[in-house]
Amino acid sequence: MSDTNAKKRTLLLTGASRGIGHATVKRFSSAGWRVITCSRHGFPENCPWEMGPEDHIQVDLADPKMTKQAIKEIKSRIGGELHALVNNAGISPKGEGGSRMGTIETSIEDWQRVFQVNFFAPIMLARGLAEELQNTQGAVVNVTSIAGSHVHPFAGSAYATSKAALASLTREMAADFGPRGIRVNAIAPGEIDTAILSPGTDKIVEQIPMRRLGTPDEVAKIIYVLCTEMSSYVNGAEIHINGGQHVI
Ligand SMILES: NC(=O)c1ccc[n+]([C@@H]2O[C@H](COP(=O)([O-])OP(=O)(O)OC[C@H]3O[C@@H](n4cnc5c(N)ncnc54)[C@H](OP(=O)(O)O)[C@@H]3O)[C@@H](O)[C@H]2O)c1
Repeated sequence: MSDTNAKKRTLLLTGASRGIGHATVKRFSSAGWRVITCSRHGFPENCPWEMGPEDHIQVDLADPKMTKQAIKEIKSRIGGELHALVNNAGISPKGEGGSRMGTIETSIEDWQRVFQVNFFAPIMLARGLAEELQNTQGAVVNVTSIAGSHVHPFAGSAYATSKAALASLTREMAADFGPRGIRVNAIAPGEIDTAILSPGTDKIVEQIPMRRLGTPDEVAKIIYVLCTEMSSYVNGAEIHINGGQHVI
């Protein structure tokens, strides 16, 4: 899956410092893309892929003012062209001892913070960069979750509802951005081997038809497909990447 003959394209990826985001930046940069990353941490000195501080934006997506400022900064760095936006950053707060935070005990502040990062930041970024995406006939991928459509033993209610809202937003965006030539899709991972998983996930894995966790790269390669010509007529889809977990 190499794009080495194509002109260098630009991806804006939120939450690139670990897990699925980390695998995504590796996949796109090895295919010759410029990847601009966003996360709360500064540019890492020992960055494992080829990029400089000019390709990293330090932003707390829980803060709408900072997010607006970051959009201005991104625009100034990309010169009118963005080929893909991947809204990957997400938070899933847990209660004491890693317990699930349900609808009753989740504080309103936690609900708002989770929705700001997982739901409002993606629409702010997509709207703020719509012109740049239109200029390249680009693509948006929103990272949802299996928890958006099933009550999950560890994922809290704020997280689950924010991901359900993000899946609905993907549908609405596909309708509104499609006429501008921008495709908008979602991927819904199941249990992927990253830091976001809770102790006890091994019990869930016993029920998954494929009987194993997914790897971050198995998610990243589908994100890649959704950002390239291989999916040129796919718009408004939510692809399950979960070894068949959604069928049980
Ligand atoms: N792993 C799974 O099994 C699984 C399953 C379903 C869905 N997902 C979804 O997949 C996405 C990636 O998950 P992951 O497991 O790779 O997560 P992860 O390992 O916890 O990484 C989350 C990323 O988001 C960034 N981030 C978190 N809060 C942020 C904020 N306020 N502002 C900016 N960046 C922020 C983090 O960077 P900093 O800490 O540097 O800010 C980090 O790069 C999430 O949307 C998650 O909900 C994961």
